Amino acid sequence: MARIKFEAVGKQYPNGFSALSNLNLEIADKEFLVLLGPSGCGKSTTLNMIAGLEDVTDGNLYFDDAVMNTVPPHKRDVAMVFQSYALYPHKSVYDNIAFGLKMRKVAPDEIKRRVLDAARRLEIEPLLERRPDQLSGGQRQRVALGRAMVRQPQVFLMDEPLSNLDAALRISMRAEIKQLHQAMQTTFVYVTHDQAEALTLADRIVVMRGGVVQQIGVPDQIYEHPANMFVASFLGNPPINFLEGQLLRINDAVVFERGALRIALPAATAARVSAQVGREVVLGIRAEDVAETDSPEAGACLSGRIGSVLPVGSDQFVEMEVEGCKLFFRLGKESHRRTGSNAILAVNLNRLHLFDKQSTESLL
Ligand SMILES: Nc1ncnc2c1ncn2[C@@H]1O[C@H](COP(=O)(O)OP(=O)(O)O)[C@@H](O)[C@H]1O
Ligand SMILES: [Mg+2]
Repeated sequence: MARIKFEAVGKQYPNGFSALSNLNLEIADKEFLVLLGPSGCGKSTTLNMIAGLEDVTDGNLYFDDAVMNTVPPHKRDVAMVFQSYALYPHKSVYDNIAFGLKMRKVAPDEIKRRVLDAARRLEIEPLLERRPDQLSGGQRQRVALGRAMVRQPQVFLMDEPLSNLDAALRISMRAEIKQLHQAMQTTFVYVTHDQAEALTLADRIVVMRGGVVQQIGVPDQIYEHPANMFVASFLGNPPINFLEGQLLRINDAVVFERGALRIALPAATAARVSAQVGREVVLGIRAEDVAETDSPEAGACLSGRIGSVLPVGSDQFVEMEVEGCKLFFRLGKESHRRTGSNAILAVNLNRLHLFDKQSTESLL
C-alpha cells in the first residue's frame, strides 16, 4: 500500500528559482492522480520529488506515515516512465524489460515469468527478440511501460508518457494505461499538459500554474466548477469564452450586462452572487453550452455576426462576434451557419460561469 502525502512542500532549485510553493496534497492508495498544467508549471519537479530524483527543499513528503525527504530513489519502490522512452539501444526488448530485475538479483525464473506476463498484457510478445530501432514509437513506449510494470512498484510515476506519439495512438494508449491501472492496483501519478488526457485518465486532477496549485478535484468538478479563470480556460476545446461586464439588479432579477447584451441569471446563481451586484465580473460560457434557436428568449440569448466556420468532422467550431468580443462555439454539423450572417444562440443558463474580474476567482 502506498499513500503519498505532501505537507507544505516547496522546491527551490540551487539557482534560487522557486519551482513549487506550499504543496499540500494527499494521494490515496491505488488512486490515479494527474498533475496538469502548462509547460514549466512544476509538474516534473513534483514527480521527481516523489521519485527521489529531486530533493524536497521545504516541508515534508510522506509515503504512508514515513517521511521520505532523504530516502534515496532505489529505496522508494517507485517506477517511472518518461516521455523519451530511454531504452537500451543494443538490448533486445526482452532484455530491456528484464534489465532492472537482473540488477536487483531477482531469480531468473521469476524474471522470465514477469517479463512474459508484461509482454502478454501489452501485446508485445512477438517483439521480444527485436531491438528498439526495429520498433515503432508506440511499441517502444509499451516496452518502457513493461519495464516499469515488471518492477511491481508501489507507486507508478509517468511523465508525459504519450507526448511523443501520434494523435490516434495517444488515444488508444490512454485506454491501455487506464486498464493497466485497474489491473495493477497501484498508485499512479501521471504528468501531462494535455487536458483531454487528464480528463479521461484521472481519478483526481491537480491543476498547477507557476508552481502553485490552482485546484484539486475529480475531473467533473474541475470542468464544471473551475475555481478560477485559469482553470476554466485550461480545460475545454475550444476554450471557454469570457465576456467582461457588470452585474445589475433589474426588478427582481440579477442580470449580466455588457453593452446591449443582457443575460438574466437563474435564481440559484442569482442568489449566490447577489452581494456582487454593481461589480465588474467576467461571464464564462463554454463552447458547447449554446444551441441554435428559432424562438429567442430575452435575457437568455447571444446575437451577433458569424465570423469563421471551422468544420472539425463531428462538429463545427463557429466564431461569433458579440459586443466586441470574438467567441467560439461548438455547433452540430447540421448547422448551416455562414460567414457574415447574423445568428442568435440560446445560452444554457444553468451552465454559466462567473468570475470576479479583479481576483479572477469564481463567484459561484
Ligand atoms: N535544475 C533546475 N534549475 C533551475 N530551474 C529549474 C531546474 N529544473 C527545472 N527548473 C525550472 O522549474 C520550473 C518547473 O519545471 P518543470 O517541473 O520541469 O515543469 P513542467 O514539468 O511542468 O514543464 C521551470 O520554470 C523550469 O525552468
Ligand atoms: Mg515536465
